Amino acid sequence: MKIKKIIATNKLNEKIILTSPTLKDAEQLAEHANKVFAETRFLSRGIEEGIKSKEDEEKWITTINKNKSSFIICAKLNNKIIGIGNISSSGKGLRFRHICSLGISIQKEFWGRGIGKLLMTALIENAQKLGYELIRLDVAGTNYTAQNLYKKFGFVEYGRLKNAMKYNDNTYEDMINMIKILG
Ligand SMILES: CC(C)(COP(=O)(O)OP(=O)(O)OC[C@H]1O[C@@H](n2cnc3c(N)ncnc32)[C@H](O)[C@@H]1OP(=O)(O)O)[C@@H](O)C(=O)NCCC(=O)NCCS
Repeated sequence: MKIKKIIATNKLNEKIILTSPTLKDAEQLAEHANKVFAETRFLSRGIEEGIKSKEDEEKWITTINKNKSSFIICAKLNNKIIGIGNISSSGKGLRFRHICSLGISIQKEFWGRGIGKLLMTALIENAQKLGYELIRLDVAGTNYTAQNLYKKFGFVEYGRLKNAMKYNDNTYEDMINMIKILG
């Protein structure tokens, strides 16, 4: 589905547009994905798994925009995508339809400007509107920035999988499982 466009201001007083992508955004979404895959080790995939193409992103946009229980939100500054977030249904069937999962990534040069908080607010509000009761996510054990952000929005830890991610240099990251109950 597509969310209703939001015009917001971050802590630097910049105008941030939060909106669902259309096919016109596919190229910028691919650029965004390839940039963040290379910039952080905290996402579930890295650039070593290959780059995303405009066509990959067109397929993703089409699938999610048609899906009644999932959505993508792009954060745009001066008409350029600088961050994205998404809510996806668990995809596990009727007994799990009240649970969704959340993902978020912002380009490194825009970290610390309050854009994560704007995206989280929009993701949670829209998840609530869809009738979800629980939002779950996994975060790397040393990704303290994201953990702080999630805690700020009421997420709590319910589990930890030791060494869940293994990198090419043979180092590991635990995965912390977090949940937020929507009231
Ligand atoms: C995690 C991420 C989304 C945060 O986005 P952001 O725009 O930098 O976050 P904000 O500026 O809105 O800050 C939100 C909160 O995060 C925490 N935070 C931000 N920067 C931090 C830092 N350098 N150290 C510790 N906590 C930090 C603070 O609690 C902050 O709230 P405050 O400003 O009221 O103190 C962003 O860093 C990112 O995309 N990282 C790479 C991808 C990633 O890790 N995604 C999550 C995967 S689970």
